[in-house]
Amino acid sequence: MAREGGSLSDDKIEIVNQLLLPHTTEWLVIDTIEQAHDAIKTMKIRGAPAIASLAALSVSQHLSRALRADPPPEFLSSPEGLKTHVSPILHFLFTARPTAVNLGAATRRLTRRLQASLNAGKDARTIAEDLIEDGRQVAAEDVGRNKAMAKCGGDWLVDKVKSTGGSGNGLNVLTVCNTGSLATSGYGTALGLITYLYETKKLGRAYYTQTAPYHQGSRLTALELKTLQIPSTMIVDTMVGSLFQHHDIHAVAVGADRIARNGDTANKIGTYNAAVLAARHNIPFIVVAPITTVDLDIADGSGIPIEYRPPLEACVVRGALYPPSLDAQGIKAQAAVMITPEELDGIYNPSFDVTPAELITAIVTERGVAVKGSEGRFDLNSVV
Ligand code: MRU
Repeated sequence: MAREGGSLSDDKIEIVNQLLLPHTTEWLVIDTIEQAHDAIKTMKIRGAPAIASLAALSVSQHLSRALRADPPPEFLSSPEGLKTHVSPILHFLFTARPTAVNLGAATRRLTRRLQASLNAGKDARTIAEDLIEDGRQVAAEDVGRNKAMAKCGGDWLVDKVKSTGGSGNGLNVLTVCNTGSLATSGYGTALGLITYLYETKKLGRAYYTQTAPYHQGSRLTALELKTLQIPSTMIVDTMVGSLFQHHDIHAVAVGADRIARNGDTANKIGTYNAAVLAARHNIPFIVVAPITTVDLDIADGSGIPIEYRPPLEACVVRGALYPPSLDAQGIKAQAAVMITPEELDGIYNPSFDVTPAELITAIVTERGVAVKGSEGRFDLNSVV
């Protein structure tokens, strides 16, 4: 979640520092491209759509400040000068995290706009204004499309459950990681679907995994569901199988960081485990993501770059001291606690895994729901 002022002269960007949630709400001001890059890389902001929005907004901010500067910076003196200045910035932002394709989609969109404006023979200031507009659009478009995909996916699930003899009410849905307002510009993707079911009185209960090692589930999804007052139950990641054995779960709904042309989907580590178990228990497994997450240039999951986070991140948990009343006594509430011996021999810490298309029942975007055809393959052209 990133917020900013809405006019050329009001380009303040603020993000919630997600490393400190849920116990501390700290708004960080993003003033430079470097700060935006750092916030994305260190996961102060995370979630595929949210990092794309921040990257795009930071380009808008940078250019709108340049337009107001007196004297104007040298790069605004010619269209080529602007291109030479902006292109490395877009590349730098693109490199902040590798797996979420939305970041690349946003920087590519700005690159295309830059080139189109250059081709149209516009002057540097007008091109900068075009880029500012596009950067803001990237963030602004997000909420509307989330609501659209939540409705498509939610209605589809209700019908699917009815088609197998269920009532379509009281649906229990498991999710992984955090895909709500914190991960997007608002409402969320998979968590948006759960919210939609709740709002339309179709939800029984939301279940969510803690999502180790970063705990996006127990820190962020827990906070969002609590705030929205949606009935929910947290489970430890190792309990998915047990949950499916002992509770009536109607679907698993997850977000995505990149969906390959054949439907193979990269999402938060642990998603693949949940998909294998869902298949074993015949539970529909639904991926909910905007079309900017679909990467038609990649044939299958083997081509998706997987980010490996620093090993130390798998050795610590973050949180507040317990009991929270210690905070009132002036003791620092936030702590990162080491849970392993120091300097372990080996630590495997991929941030994402790839769920093969064969384990996915439906892929939902703002354009609709894709299911596999009779030959068992997705045709994603219908939803992009
Ligand atoms: O490492 P993160 O927290 O950025 O990973 C986030 C996820 O995997 C989400 O499920 C995905 O980005 C979709 S967010 C709507």
